[in-house]
Amino acid sequence: MIELRENPVIALGSKRCVYQHPFDEDSIIKVWRGDRENSNGKCLRYRQRQDLYREWREMVRVTTGKDPAFPYLVRFKGYELTDLGIGMVFQKVSSPDGDGLGWTLDYMKRNQIIDCELEFRLLELLRAVLRSSIVVADIGPFNILYGKTKSYGLGFRIVDGIGDKTLVPIMRFSSFIRKRRKIVAVSRLLHTLGISEDNIFKD
Ligand SMILES: Nc1ncnc2c1ncn2[C@@H]1O[C@H](COP(=O)(O)OP(=O)(O)O)[C@@H](O)[C@H]1O
Ligand SMILES: [Mg+2]
Repeated sequence: MIELRENPVIALGSKRCVYQHPFDEDSIIKVWRGDRENSNGKCLRYRQRQDLYREWREMVRVTTGKDPAFPYLVRFKGYELTDLGIGMVFQKVSSPDGDGLGWTLDYMKRNQIIDCELEFRLLELLRAVLRSSIVVADIGPFNILYGKTKSYGLGFRIVDGIGDKTLVPIMRFSSFIRKRRKIVAVSRLLHTLGISEDNIFKD
């Protein structure tokens, strides 16, 4: 079992904490946030199981096919048992200077980092997502990072938010609902970032 409890949390999402993998410089481990378990532990544990399954199911599906969004998804490496519960291991996205973790779109927007070239590259990712069969639950500004990965070098990567959020995977079954949902999510993201939608919904 991997011991994480004494290690620093290197990033925090609304549901999960991110730790450096102690034995693999190129990986991070995500575990559920302990501070959120108290009030209704049972319900939360059920939700965690759902989340684990949702993400895993979509990862397996996309990574075994020839999906255009595939290179943009950060690699899922499997599960590890930790002293903080079950952890999901992913390839690490490092910041462009290699000093910390990849930059979120939120950080890039706040620090006015997104120039024309980066905007072009981000739009390429979003177009690939729209063209693909990938199911998107939440393509927000904290779930896309810009940085380096061993397998693909420097670029934008999706680190979270894929798979159906609902118990019955309606988006998996209906390509119409899936596409519609993605258009709304992409449009909302572009609006948040102050980027025009003009060229993206054409094909
Ligand atoms: N593979 C990764 N490499 C580097 N940083 C990551 C990676 N995955 C997540 N992060 C960082 O951790 C934060 C929280 O992770 P996330 O999976 O979005 O958690 P949550 O499920 O709680 O939303 C992200 O916003 C990002 O900053
Ligand atoms: Mg997230």
